[in-house]
Amino acid sequence: MKNTFDPFAPEIIANPYPALERLRAVEPVSWNEPLRGWLLTAYDDVKAAQKDRRFSAERVKPFTSHMAATERPELERMGTLLNQWLLFRDPPAHTPLRRLLIDTFTPRAINALRPRIGEIVTELLSPLSARDQFDMIGDFAFPMPATVIAHILGVPSSDVPKFRSWSNDLATVIGNSRQVPDRFERGARALFTLTDYFRSTVLQRSNERKKGALVDDLISAREAGGPMSEEELVASCILILFAGHETTMNLIGNATLLLLKHRNQLALLRDDPNLVSSMVEEVLRYECAAFVIVRIADEDIEIGEKTIAKGDRVFLMLGAANRDPMHFDNPESFDIRRNPNRHLSFGYGIHFCIGAQLARVEAEVAFEYLLPLIGDIEPVSEDLDWDDNFVLRGVKSLLLRRPAVAAA
Ligand code: HEM
Repeated sequence: MKNTFDPFAPEIIANPYPALERLRAVEPVSWNEPLRGWLLTAYDDVKAAQKDRRFSAERVKPFTSHMAATERPELERMGTLLNQWLLFRDPPAHTPLRRLLIDTFTPRAINALRPRIGEIVTELLSPLSARDQFDMIGDFAFPMPATVIAHILGVPSSDVPKFRSWSNDLATVIGNSRQVPDRFERGARALFTLTDYFRSTVLQRSNERKKGALVDDLISAREAGGPMSEEELVASCILILFAGHETTMNLIGNATLLLLKHRNQLALLRDDPNLVSSMVEEVLRYECAAFVIVRIADEDIEIGEKTIAKGDRVFLMLGAANRDPMHFDNPESFDIRRNPNRHLSFGYGIHFCIGAQLARVEAEVAFEYLLPLIGDIEPVSEDLDWDDNFVLRGVKSLLLRRPAVAAA
């Protein structure tokens, strides 16, 4: 059977689920021509591939060699810089880089940040509560996690507005957006700017440390003979900044959308705010902020009746796995009391998301404060502008308004 899943078709961007459901039912391992790679849509296959070392995370290398062949040095340089991200590396290189970061993101360390996250949320929400209309993404869901991650890294929160355009441009490359024709040039420029930004931060902080800031911890670990080159240190800071807010922004935006669409679930949450953490898990499952994980086959791999050839790209469709009826009852229903809820939205295995606990806590704290605010609020338009980013799933903006109070 020839499948017709085109991830860049507007109707698929708006709602990819019916098409993914058909694929999962009929051809769970399928070749996708628009992406020139394999799509895995069944939960068990998506999970197993993340444990299988024959699926390599080193997916930037083929891109780099292709760019070298096209003689576009700035794109080749972008590939070389991205190659330093631990997200794109296999063991043994991956292991020590990850080890240097995990202490900052343990549940204990993150829970200790709750009061600071609460302050950041209040600072951003206070001016919004007086407005009749605001953009949930631009006014809150972007700056909130960006300010938190700036705090964790130890860079000034006054730099947060700059991060938005740099990250947006970088996201068009990482997520393979098609709507931006010059995405490679913009992505490359953004990555070079971020590299210069963190290089000068490292230089400046080599003389003057900030206690408890991740940038400084990494500099100290390197000076103490740690296994990280200066390029890798800068790359890790960029990765943490980028991964640390683009995804969480979508989580908060998607949660708002889903609660406003499913008013009965919003009412449940307002009646029992203790449901906030299971609400967050259900949003992650139902409309997962990082929709796809990409791998490269290191050798010929057979799954079911299909053979994935060495060198082929493989797209692990988390958004499809999370709605697999073999693992979730009524997967199409948005149910904030769902239990168990073993979604794969943070990945699985050695690349499991380092920031999972941070994202959960940020969303929980955000909704503790947002709940009173969004009770009587509604989207300005029913037409949603979903980002065509294939990896990061969220809307570009979400204008909300308070209905006009009828004159007495
Ligand atoms: C809703 C929010 C988030 C989602 C859905 C998400 C999702 C993911 C997924 C699916 C992966 C695995 C990628 C792969 O295997 O190729 C991952 C890895 C990663 N995430 Fe997140 N993430 C989120 C928030 C965060 C935050 C707040 C941080 C900040 C520290 C972060 C940092 C990372 C890093 C550094 C990795 C790479 C880990 C490794 O390669 O070992 N993420 N994330």
